[in-house]
Amino acid sequence: MKVSLSILTVDYLRVKESLENYINDVDYVHLDVMDGVFVPNISFGPAFIKSLRKIDENKIFDTHLMIEYPDRYIKEFSEAGSQYITFHVEASSDVLKTIELIKSYNVKAGISIKPNTSVDEIKDLLPYLDMVLVMSVEPGFGGQKFMPIAIDKVKLLSELKKKNNYKYLINIDGGIKDSTAVYIKDYVDLAVSGSYILNSESPKENALKLKEL
Ligand code: DX5
Ligand code: ZN
Repeated sequence: MKVSLSILTVDYLRVKESLENYINDVDYVHLDVMDGVFVPNISFGPAFIKSLRKIDENKIFDTHLMIEYPDRYIKEFSEAGSQYITFHVEASSDVLKTIELIKSYNVKAGISIKPNTSVDEIKDLLPYLDMVLVMSVEPGFGGQKFMPIAIDKVKLLSELKKKNNYKYLINIDGGIKDSTAVYIKDYVDLAVSGSYILNSESPKENALKLKEL
């Protein structure tokens, strides 16, 4: 299983040091953008991501927009250096238009669904997607408990992908650690992990544990 490292819960004064230490132990970097409206928390914006890009010019940046009106900011987040931009289906009034907008900047497009949103609600969009990000916590904060409701969703997405030859990567986000990843490892292409890696005593070992699954 590939791992996308979420830096949300890191000490932002030490983010450079943390990324330099652990970026080679993971496959992607997951960037959680929060606007205080779509979710009850505020994180960072494109300028911060642009600075992080200087730490590693090649690593895949997987930007997760938890914001209202994502269309307004797609240009900035693509120019900041994101290879994937994922927005919430619950936040866009014209989801296909947002997907097309992301792709127009040569960036891969993903959709995320909250724990109460079913796969059925995005079924028609699956052929157009490069990533589906299943939330296994309510978006807003790192360090929350994994919600098992996500297991059947990644399983279904994996079946639909095989059956229809879809190309999207299946990603899962929230509460991922060795003991929860075992439930989803057979169905996902990658998993986001934040606090289990960066807020632990053994970041490298924990990243490796996930990758070995
Ligand atoms: C939650 C974020 C997640 C979160 C992951 O809204 O989208 O990416 O930071 O952190 P952990 O791994 O601590 O649940
Ligand atoms: Zn996220």
